Formats: sequence, C-alpha cells, structure tokens
Amino acid sequence: MFKIELKTRLGHLIFIANDKQSLMDCADAAEIQIPSSCRNGTCRTCMSRTLGGRVRYEIDWPGLSAEEKAQGWILPCVAIACSDLKIENSNAYLI
Ligand code: FES
Repeated sequence: MFKIELKTRLGHLIFIANDKQSLMDCADAAEIQIPSSCRNGTCRTCMSRTLGGRVRYEIDWPGLSAEEKAQGWILPCVAIACSDLKIENSNAYLI
C-alpha cells in the first residue's frame, strides 16, 4: 500500500493506492475524481505530474512521449504506483 498525495487547485487530497490497480481506480475508491475520458491511456485527459515517487505501466504505449515521462508526466488511468507518490492535477476534486 502506498500513500498518494494529490495536489489540486483547492488543496491537497490523500488516498491509498495498491500495486495492482491504476491510480485512478484507487482515487475512485477514495471518492476522488481525476478528470478522465478514455481510461485506457490514449486521450491524455487525466495527465498529471509527479512531484516525487515512481509509477509503472502494464501497457506499452501510455500516451506520453519519452520527454514527457522524463519531466514527470503520468497518465493515472493506467499508471500503477510503485512507491509513495506526490502528484499534481489542478482539476482533481473530492466527490
Ligand atoms: S483518461 Fe484518457 S489517458 Fe487517462
């Protein structure tokens, strides 16, 4: 289990993620809404930035360039936590 700190426009939200489900599924379970559309790693609606920590992907093509990944951008709909994380998505909110 990993502690995920999500920085939003309205403040910080905390939720717990496991090493099996996507960050978005774990946020959903905590009633935290991260904007989404496709939920399969292609549309980039959920694009968020990590400020610390590591994620992994089970798909080969998360719709991010190598440069974006190097800058810390992730797609929470398909990203799985590998550590505690700090993420920024200004449009996320508590349901
Ligand atoms: S919701 Fe489409 S890439 Fe995440």
